[in-house]
Amino acid sequence: VSEHGAPVLLVHGGAGHIPDDLVEAYLAGLRTAMDAGWAMLARGGSAVDAVEAAIVSLEDDGSFDAGRGSVLNQDGRVQLDAMIMDGASLAAGGVGAVETVRNPIRLARLVMETSPQVYLVAAGAERFAATHGLPRVDNATLVSPRERRRFEAARELAGVDPPAAPVHDTVGAVALDAEGNLASGTSTGGTTYKPVGRIGDSSIVGAGGYADNDSAAASLTGEGEAIMRLVLGKWAVDRVAAGDPPQAAADAAIGRLGARLGAHGGLIVLDRLGRTGVASNAFRMAWGVRSATRSDAVMSGSDVDRG
Ligand code: GLY
Repeated sequence: VSEHGAPVLLVHGGAGHIPDDLVEAYLAGLRTAMDAGWAMLARGGSAVDAVEAAIVSLEDDGSFDAGRGSVLNQDGRVQLDAMIMDGASLAAGGVGAVETVRNPIRLARLVMETSPQVYLVAAGAERFAATHGLPRVDNATLVSPRERRRFEAARELAGVDPPAAPVHDTVGAVALDAEGNLASGTSTGGTTYKPVGRIGDSSIVGAGGYADNDSAAASLTGEGEAIMRLVLGKWAVDRVAAGDPPQAAADAAIGRLGARLGAHGGLIVLDRLGRTGVASNAFRMAWGVRSATRSDAVMSGSDVDRG
């Protein structure tokens, strides 16, 4: 068994135009999510358990663009994407354009663990959820009054101006457990006023996240179309495999996102030694870290941040 560090959980609540009046709610939501994930790790649970628990908490918190309270698409509906990956086995599960599942990260885990497929979308993913006993909900229960107002504003602008500034407050988590296993998860409602059926990076293995015990785990947030074209999650993890510490890999990934495509985003990276990296070039990024010795929730500005 190769050397590994003590358990660590690193989470994010997205990078982008997080407004002033949501800063406190984001930090509180991150703390609650870290408590949920850390409770798993502290009692010997797996990295996958911790990632799922943290993301379920963020999906259930109406402040974030994931699960309930997500942004609305052009039909005025919530459409959710999520993925989870187990760094021990390289097993992965992704779901896209899901409208009737409250916690798409749970559905992604079900796909990972109970199907031979890696990715299910839309009606097929929802049928899979029903078959496996995951509760289904009416889409209206996922729509918050705040997002309904933003949707109405975006619809007024459409055709006059480009759609309102997209928000990118996807959520994600990476964890290292006591056995030395890494996992990654990411969940999102996507971008404001997105076309029906649009899928971003968050649920795509290697784009919105990746995990490999041989190198690192990463979860990303930001402009999904750019992150996909750079396969940036795998790119960051490969930098760790090549010898970069996670902070250097995170800095390099955001540097590449900006320099190569002029895009904005953020990511968290965690390696098997428990070293962390956090970087963003967005207006704000919300993130937090929890271990036996660290407990922080941070709203960082547009500079690259030290994890
Ligand atoms: N990064 C989230 C999205 O583009 O959907």
